[in-house]
Amino acid sequence: ALERTLSIIKPDAVAKNVIGEIYARFEKAGLKVVAAKMKHLSRKEAEGFYAVHKERPFFNALVEFMISGPVMIQALEGENAILKNRDLMGATNPKDAAPGTIRADFADSIDANAVHGSDAAETAAVEIAYFFATTEVHAR
Ligand code: CMP
Repeated sequence: ALERTLSIIKPDAVAKNVIGEIYARFEKAGLKVVAAKMKHLSRKEAEGFYAVHKERPFFNALVEFMISGPVMIQALEGENAILKNRDLMGATNPKDAAPGTIRADFADSIDANAVHGSDAAETAAVEIAYFFATTEVHAR
C-alpha cells in the first residue's frame, strides 16, 4: 500500500554532515520526501514526541540527546514506506544493525542511533501530524 512515515535524522547524524547521504538512501529505495524541516527541538517537544516512552529508564537520556542539536524531520511517501524505512534504518541498537543499513554505517550507540522512523501506520499518522500541518505535506 502507498504509505507515509515520519523520519527524523537525529542530532548525531546532522552533526556528522550526512543528511544528504541519508536522503540518497531514501530516494534510491523509492521513498519520496513529501515534507521536511530542520528544527532544534525544545524539551517539551521532545518529551511530547516520545511520550510513549516516558516510563522507560532511557527516557531522560533520550530527551537530552534529542535536544542536544538540530534534527532534520521529514515525511516519506512510498509503497510500504513504513517497513521500507525501517529496513533502511536497521536495528535500533547499531551493534545489531545489518551491514549497509543507516544505523550500521552512521550510528554510534543506541541513543545516538542516527535516525528515527515510525513503527506502524497509526503511529506514523500521529508522528507526521506532531510536526507538520496538513498544508506542509505535499502529495507527489
Ligand atoms: P527511536 O526509534 O527514536 O525511538 C526511541 C529511542 O529510544 C530509540 O530510537 C533509541 O534511540 C532510544 N533508546 C535508548 N535505549 C533504548 C532501549 N533500551 N530500547 C529502545 N530504545 C532505546
